[in-house]
Amino acid sequence: MRGLSGRIALITGGLGDLGYATAQRLNEEGCKIILADVQPDSMGKASLINAYFIQVDISKEAEVKKACDEIAVRIGNVQILVNTAAYFVFKGVEATEEDWAKINAVNIGGTSLITKHIVPQMRSIGGGSIINFSSVSGFVGQANFATYNATKFAIRGLTKCWAQDLAPDKIRVNTLCPGYVYTSAFIHSCEKLGLDIEEENKRASAMHLLNRQGTVAEVAAAAAFLASDDASFITGSDLLVDGGYLAK
Ligand SMILES: NC(=O)c1ccc[n+]([C@@H]2O[C@H](COP(=O)([O-])OP(=O)(O)OC[C@H]3O[C@@H](n4cnc5c(N)ncnc54)[C@H](O)[C@@H]3O)[C@@H](O)[C@H]2O)c1
Repeated sequence: MRGLSGRIALITGGLGDLGYATAQRLNEEGCKIILADVQPDSMGKASLINAYFIQVDISKEAEVKKACDEIAVRIGNVQILVNTAAYFVFKGVEATEEDWAKINAVNIGGTSLITKHIVPQMRSIGGGSIINFSSVSGFVGQANFATYNATKFAIRGLTKCWAQDLAPDKIRVNTLCPGYVYTSAFIHSCEKLGLDIEEENKRASAMHLLNRQGTVAEVAAAAAFLASDDASFITGSDLLVDGGYLAK
């Protein structure tokens, strides 16, 4: 893809399935990678792709500012920001004050705080690309998903506002909206709930026109496209990578 080689890319939630797959793909395209995550990199995932790792809770502004300053000094100014970090609470009307505080603080507030502290770096180098991860859950209602879906709708709103704010700075902002992706989180949640993985995979697959879940590599390829100069006229958009989930 055009224009990725040599660029500095920061991926929040970089130890997660989709964040890490995006980091791997951007690394293959020649980017210098920074993985940011609230968890420690205990498996040494960063070193496998020659990436810099920074432990940060994106919902805490002081930590975020410190992390962004450290990145600028040690690595350089970030040109590509991929916001995948998310906290998962799946609840309906019974969600508690604590549930709302946590999911809003990470998914909406945290995404906003890291963006706030990276934008000056992008401005100083004349532009950049921000990719915010939403979901098909940012378009439709799903039973007992209100907490999560509210934040995924909000992500799409943030993208559209920031695309307006940042266009004069040549910073493009887009939303990536995956359908169901076959990840370790999917497998763990089946195991936790005592569900048969094959049966659940069939059930999830049937929700998509292509009758399967997506792969992390398919989502990562779309993120790399949005980051690249091949997407130079795309801003404020929602890119669906959903196997036809929303076309049904
Ligand atoms: N997996 C799917 O099927 C799917 C589908 C549609 C959209 N998405 C979206 O893709 C993104 C990534 O999902 P995933 O499946 O890779 O999840 P994941 O749980 O594997 O990764 C999320 C990562 O975010 C990190 N994180 C959580 N809170 C944080 C915080 N406060 N500060 C910094 N990092 C924090 C976690 O430690 C984790 O490594 C999410 O935004 C999710 O909503 C996922």
